[in-house]
Amino acid sequence: MTHINLLALCGSLREGSLNSAVAHAAAGLCRPPAAMTVHGGLDGLPFFNPDVESSTPPAVVQDFRARLAAADAVLIASPEYARGTSGMLKNALEWVVGSGELVAKPVAVVTASPSAAGGERAQAWLRETLEVMSAQVLPESLRIPCASARITEGQVTDPVLLGELTGVVEAMVRAVETLRRPVA
Ligand SMILES: Cc1cc2nc3c(=O)[nH]c(=O)nc-3n(C[C@H](O)[C@H](O)[C@H](O)COP(=O)(O)O)c2cc1C
Repeated sequence: MTHINLLALCGSLREGSLNSAVAHAAAGLCRPPAAMTVHGGLDGLPFFNPDVESSTPPAVVQDFRARLAAADAVLIASPEYARGTSGMLKNALEWVVGSGELVAKPVAVVTASPSAAGGERAQAWLRETLEVMSAQVLPESLRIPCASARITEGQVTDPVLLGELTGVVEAMVRAVETLRRPVA
């Protein structure tokens, strides 16, 4: 089967980020023909500016768009900050609203939070934003409550969570395979 290229974006810059741990765990759970790369460069993007977008966007923006365009599906791992996603992740998404790299692309959203709600408001917020961008937000998207008790020193240690993440990765692969299937 043809290679399946999955890309993970993490919305946290924190050294001990729970969401970064989740993104890396998901990458480790991928099996051929799928492979997942965790993109670490969101903090290098300038603040979105429509004036810049309509001229020549900086190389770092072009690189980000090219990575998204080359991805068959995207995993977004986001913290919840002040009941929304992080400014860094929102900014990154703004750069691709107009250029359209996420249109019809399968996207799974995971939100890991130390709270019992598992980042539900960031999850809802991201879903709404991604849907207005015409991404295909997967129903297998996952809230991860009490994440600090389930992730130790950057490793997902909870077998239940590992099983849930495996389900997310499998859903991403299934969505790509469905898109590739010829229409009868
Ligand atoms: C400025 C700030 C605002 C936060 N707001 C929320 C919030 O609204 N809801 C929530 O569940 N957690 C909130 N938190 C806690 C984060 O979810 C927690 O720090 C989480 O570990 C961040 O994700 P990370 O581990 O991937 O960096 C906030 C943390 C900070 C620093």
